[in-house]
Amino acid sequence: MNFELSEEHLMIRQAARDFAVNECLPGVIERDEQQKFPKEQIIKLAELGFMGMMVDPKYGGSGMDTISYVLAMEEISKIDASVSVCMSVNNSLVCWGLEAYGTEEQKQKYLTPAAQGQKDGQLYIGAFLLSEPEAGSDATSQRTTAEDKGDHYLLNGTKNWITNGSSASVYLVMAQTDVSKGSHGINTLIVEKNWPGVTVSVKENKLGIRGSDTHSILFTDVKVPKENRVGEDGFGFAFAMKTLAGGRIGIASQALGIASGAFEMAVKYSKERKAFGKEIRHHQVIQFKLADMATKIEAARLLCLKAAWEKDHAKDYTVSSSMAKVFSSETAMWTAIEAVQVHGGYGFVKEYHVERLMRDAKITQIYEGTSEVQRIVIGRAILK
Ligand code: CAA
Repeated sequence: MNFELSEEHLMIRQAARDFAVNECLPGVIERDEQQKFPKEQIIKLAELGFMGMMVDPKYGGSGMDTISYVLAMEEISKIDASVSVCMSVNNSLVCWGLEAYGTEEQKQKYLTPAAQGQKDGQLYIGAFLLSEPEAGSDATSQRTTAEDKGDHYLLNGTKNWITNGSSASVYLVMAQTDVSKGSHGINTLIVEKNWPGVTVSVKENKLGIRGSDTHSILFTDVKVPKENRVGEDGFGFAFAMKTLAGGRIGIASQALGIASGAFEMAVKYSKERKAFGKEIRHHQVIQFKLADMATKIEAARLLCLKAAWEKDHAKDYTVSSSMAKVFSSETAMWTAIEAVQVHGGYGFVKEYHVERLMRDAKITQIYEGTSEVQRIVIGRAILK
């Protein structure tokens, strides 16, 4: 066993750290307040090769491993989780799903621009459309229908809380083709945002990750050619589950980054602020908080890296990714609340950033499977 990162991993982490500080930090408070999508940052992230990090270079990717992805996600999430959620969805849900299960034509047409983050000089990213008004955790209860019409599907329904909803050019949409087959009647279809019948609806006004654009998407008699189905007929739900197993490593790393960002701010502040005649770091109550933060963060990091290592070594990472996600997201929430507490009144105002990390942390316990869903996945695996 070797806990040391390679030279290449260290370089990737440093590149992500520099990017976060130089490109994401300026304007992060304003983007959060104004709910402004970080388009410039995503374009630059794509130029760095971070929008298709794990994709084979022959499809426009950077050919890096999942460990590199975890390292980059942590660094960027320390500063701006609205940037990192866009990066995570594009990398692990859209690009990975298309590379693992798409046809050669689908890879040429949709994966290559998504991995490059651009097409003809314009931003090109993807979104993953599983959740519905009445199918969140209960993802098999899809109401969106993809009626088989021979050479095409007719897509009708509504998808909710879609990350990259308006900024994406391409959607991976889960829909029910044969309700009598339950989860085995679901298909995943590749849908272009500008096709007739696709409507980008309400933008959500959110507690956190406010720079990320989250929308409802409506489909009204959208004709989707059969060649845009991913995998065999009825593979759509398994596709979603397999893809989400990798996605959960991305969100776990995002949560890890939010936690370590909040922790670093708390450490820094504890060395600056004086109370009762000494810097607050000399008060044991603060030391103990920082010690608990550091311990939980290290445990979260190891879980994220282990899940990534298993994925890179073609092992089954379903359970380890759920463990990483549930632990990292709960660590993020707890650490961010404690970091605000360390800052006292300053923690409650926007200039100190830590209140934003606290708001951003919450969603990591909800999206790509709530903490309760992760416990279902882990519990079933233990008890089977
Ligand atoms: N790989 C392959 N097949 C799988 C699978 C996997 N990882 N997991 C389940 N399946 C199969 C099962 O074997 C089963 O098939 P059989 O009937 O042949 O046995 C079928 O799929 C149905 O599985 P379950 O019976 O386990 O389904 P369930 O109804 O009990 O639900 C669940 C299981 C884990 C709760 C699942 O519904 C789930 O993960 N829900 C959460 C959904 C989620 O994560 N949504 C996130 C939305 S995307 C997002 O948030 C992105 C973003 O914007 C940031």
